[in-house]
Amino acid sequence: MAPPSRPNEAAIGTLDGKVAVITGASKGIGKATALAFAAAGAKVVLAARTREDVERVAAYLKDSGAEALAVPTDVTDVEAVQRLMQRTLEVYHRLDILVNNAGSGRFGTVVDFAPGDWDRVLDSNLKGVYLCAKYALPPMLAQRSGQIINVLSVAAKVTFEASSAYCAAKAGALALTKVLAAEVRQQNIRVTAILPGSVHTPFWDDIPEHPDFEKMLKPEHVAETVLSVCQQPLGVVIEEIVVTPPLGIL
Ligand SMILES: NC(=O)c1ccc[n+]([C@@H]2O[C@H](COP(=O)([O-])OP(=O)(O)OC[C@H]3O[C@@H](n4cnc5c(N)ncnc54)[C@H](OP(=O)(O)O)[C@@H]3O)[C@@H](O)[C@H]2O)c1
Repeated sequence: MAPPSRPNEAAIGTLDGKVAVITGASKGIGKATALAFAAAGAKVVLAARTREDVERVAAYLKDSGAEALAVPTDVTDVEAVQRLMQRTLEVYHRLDILVNNAGSGRFGTVVDFAPGDWDRVLDSNLKGVYLCAKYALPPMLAQRSGQIINVLSVAAKVTFEASSAYCAAKAGALALTKVLAAEVRQQNIRVTAILPGSVHTPFWDDIPEHPDFEKMLKPEHVAETVLSVCQQPLGVVIEEIVVTPPLGIL
């Protein structure tokens, strides 16, 4: 009897030669994702606002033999996002994967929260996802293939006190993810939302009251989740993954 075979076996596993734009790639989950993608053979384009940080990660990857490009980008800025995608196409001539990971948290009760902070949280966690998807999609549509992975948060579905802007932004980004998935699935573009629980990253540096770091996920755990979504056979769409530490949402 012939051994059991897996469907689309050739499509599983490697990201060899795939071009991936990763936002928020200088720290935390984004940096771990860039390292995991490069190790799997992808050409990675690293985007975040702080030039020296993205260039440091790109230099590290190139020293390790990977192909990497740093493009300092604020994902809330239309022209910067357009430049990010243009630069990717100039250098690598295609765009296979977009990981929308950039985001930031600011917390306070509705009464205390400053309107400027509300805008910053909504812009980085929601508008940035829309802008990056909007300008990454034309080359993917032309290729008739592509993948967009939005790293959101359990806060897209669970509410926490003093987190109105963050929860609203992440819930909005989850709705955006679902709309986008429906709009592009006929064109062979797969869209996934990943909702992590607490992860021990610099995200928490300026937040005085935080869960126990020891109990959190590590950024590499989320990176492996993102990678596994991109390693699925072409016939598989993963719409949403919730990933939490063993003790649940902290
Ligand atoms: N840590 C957690 O517990 C946790 C849990 C669930 C979900 N998440 C989500 O996961 C994502 C990554 O979080 P993290 O914990 O890895 O955060 P992090 O360690 O603070 O890293 C955030 C990254 O995003 C970049 N960034 C922030 N605002 C940006 C903007 N406007 N434009 C471009 N880049 C920007 C930062 O670089 P620059 O500041 O230089 O731009 C940095 O590279 C976020 O969307 C976050 O909401 C985090």
